[in-house]
Amino acid sequence: LGHLNPSEIAQAGLQALPTSAPSSKKPRVAVLGAAGGIGQPLALLLKASPLIGELSLYDIVGTEGVAADLSHIDSSVKVSSATGAEKLSDALYGCDLVVIPAGVPRKPGMTRDDLFNINASIVRDLCAAVAKYCPQAWVAIISNPVNSTVPIAAEVFKRAGTYDPRKLLGVTKLDVLRANMFIAEAIGKAPESVSVPVIGGHAGVTILPLLSQATPRVDVSAEKAKALTERIQDAGTEVVKAKAGKGSATLSMAYAAAKFAESCVLALQGQAVVECAYVESHLTDLPFFASQVRLGPSGVEEYLPLGRFSELEAKGFEALKSELRGSIQKGIDFVRKG
Ligand code: NAD
Ligand code: LMR
Repeated sequence: LGHLNPSEIAQAGLQALPTSAPSSKKPRVAVLGAAGGIGQPLALLLKASPLIGELSLYDIVGTEGVAADLSHIDSSVKVSSATGAEKLSDALYGCDLVVIPAGVPRKPGMTRDDLFNINASIVRDLCAAVAKYCPQAWVAIISNPVNSTVPIAAEVFKRAGTYDPRKLLGVTKLDVLRANMFIAEAIGKAPESVSVPVIGGHAGVTILPLLSQATPRVDVSAEKAKALTERIQDAGTEVVKAKAGKGSATLSMAYAAAKFAESCVLALQGQAVVECAYVESHLTDLPFFASQVRLGPSGVEEYLPLGRFSELEAKGFEALKSELRGSIQKGIDFVRKG
């Protein structure tokens, strides 16, 4: 996965959809939940990014300290901070991209869905503010359960009349990083040279790595492929257990989110970039689905085909449908009936 030049796009048979004009200005990026375990290292990586113009940090507590600390780093990225709901408008004003890691993380023994009761309303309220103060912005959602929080955001934007499905992205890049890393270890290659598409959603069996479509080719036994798939699906839980009550993945997630945010920025500026993301989709009969998408100035401009599945992947695809459908509906109902 990565950046495609126009001839690679043509070779892949991708059709260009109507696009917005690329923007030449370095974007203003907001991080909502910026004082948290993900928010802080994410803000650090974005402060160090040559692609970002302004970094707008927002949290309900502790934002000023994080911003003061980062503002001493000698990079050109301009840092501002805002704390508390009454300052959210300041944080969002003029933003091109809003990244949302706000919300509670898992403790051992919990599923991501156990976070729904707290995080659903956090995401709903933050997205209502996005609709009001920066309705054109791209929104990248990290807060769990992603399988439900992205449909929640979509419903909020629909209600506000600002919904553009091409600009609402659930961040599943950590699953791709993990798949790349674990496969690289298994086949004895450098992780930087490995690329594994991961489709479906972002929880347990809904995470479906496509080992059969990896680059380079992954030549392992069916048993090993199953074990690798399960490790990728359970990798978040692996970290939750290791942190023993002190939260879930933060550093690897911040790295994944920073890379993802940079891809969004490059796309906004006119580069074709391919990423896996959880988006509104017509590739399957599920209304939201993670797959490889080509990003451009308008947001998602192409859904790459899912390709041929191995036997293991075909089974995995059937197995994920009911859980993913239920999580999507739960998110939609939360806004419609809540
Ligand atoms: P954390 O508790 O360390 O940080 C969360 C931050 O959100 C805190 O600073 C908190 O003050 C802030 N917050 C709470 N309510 C807020 C609101 N209404 N507005 C703004 N900020 C608010 O948690 P974390 O480890 O950073 O994880 C955050 C979320 O990311 C969790 O839901 C976690 O499950 C999720 N996560 C997702 C992925 C993924 O792959 N998508 C990976 C890791 C973690
Ligand atoms: C992850 O995959 O690390 C995150 O979704 C956090 C979690 O709860 O596992």
